[in-house]
Amino acid sequence: MSLWGNFDTTTLVVIVLVTFASSYLLSYIVLEFLFIKELEKVYHILEQMRGEDYSLLKDDLASKSSPFGRLYDELYSFASTKEREIAELKKLEQFRRDFLADVSHELKTPIFAAQGFVHTLLDGAIKDKTVRTKFLKKAAKSLDALDNLVHDLLTLSQMEAGEIKMHYENFDIYNMCQEIIDELEDKAQKKNISLDFSKDTNPGLMIYGDQRRLYQVMLNLTSNAIKYTEEGGWAKIILKQQDGEAFIGVKDNGVGISNEHAHRVFERFYRVEKSRTKKKGGTGLGLAIVKHVVDGHNSKVQLESKPGEGTLFYFTLPLAKQSEQPQRNKGKKTSNEKV
Ligand SMILES: Nc1ncnc2c1ncn2[C@@H]1O[C@H](COP(=O)(O)OP(=O)(O)OP(=O)(O)O)[C@@H](O)[C@H]1O
Ligand SMILES: [Mg+2]
Repeated sequence: MSLWGNFDTTTLVVIVLVTFASSYLLSYIVLEFLFIKELEKVYHILEQMRGEDYSLLKDDLASKSSPFGRLYDELYSFASTKEREIAELKKLEQFRRDFLADVSHELKTPIFAAQGFVHTLLDGAIKDKTVRTKFLKKAAKSLDALDNLVHDLLTLSQMEAGEIKMHYENFDIYNMCQEIIDELEDKAQKKNISLDFSKDTNPGLMIYGDQRRLYQVMLNLTSNAIKYTEEGGWAKIILKQQDGEAFIGVKDNGVGISNEHAHRVFERFYRVEKSRTKKKGGTGLGLAIVKHVVDGHNSKVQLESKPGEGTLFYFTLPLAKQSEQPQRNKGKKTSNEKV
């Protein structure tokens, strides 16, 4: 007799039903725990993504090990990329806001000054000949500063947009720096600062680079050396052949730059001591331009400094190429042009 022969039909139906119900329940529990819950989580994650809340999402996805592991991995890498992109955008936005605030502030200063002088003249001061000349000269000085500032800003933005291309050629950097010394001699003399080449400079050093741009670099560095050195100090231009390259530097025994500021002086509008440089009329764009030009030559401008002892700014450039014809004194620029 078979096993089933011991049961009547009702018992059999009950057994089948109980077996069916329990296997259904078991499958449901497995599905609920393994899939439906996970699917709900995925749904929740997608909801968060819609709200662009990637930071929470990353915590949710971290250390997940389930049948959905690969899906979580994909979502995790997507969330990380998105979070990075958002952080970058926020940084750019902050940079744009700071930049706009700096530019407006810097533009306002000379505009307000010129405006003040012109209005005072219109209010009657124009009748007095001495006051008239004095105020007109002051207004002109403010407008010249404004012109320089706009010019610098334009140059920087063109450089950053890659619109300015370097024009490489062989040229005599010693001759070029001699012109800079001649140009800045008056300024140096007024502060009783001796301005010359260093003793170890190689006269006639030929290099390969963009002559016009490098003129601007050396002019900015040398005028800084004069500007940030006290009366009776010295500023030197160093031009040497070293390890198959040209070593180019400007050294002074001026106020120096502390470590805390040294890595920031190449930023736009950065000035170590706002009040001090303000008196000296700087806008904090000179070194940003220097950095761009030297970077454009695939080199890096560096500085060594000790507060109270002086500063050395330096970089290296390739020596003149054999195959190229040397160019001398080509591309000299006007004196007030920074770049
Ligand atoms: N040789 C130096 N010695 C000491 N501090 C310096 C020297 N060169 C630059 N600095 C500091 O670095 C800051 C940035 O220099 P940068 O040339 O960019 O701006 P600036 O001279 O203030 O203005 P600008 O050159 O635009 O007229 C200066 O304000 C100054 O504080
Ligand atoms: Mg400067």
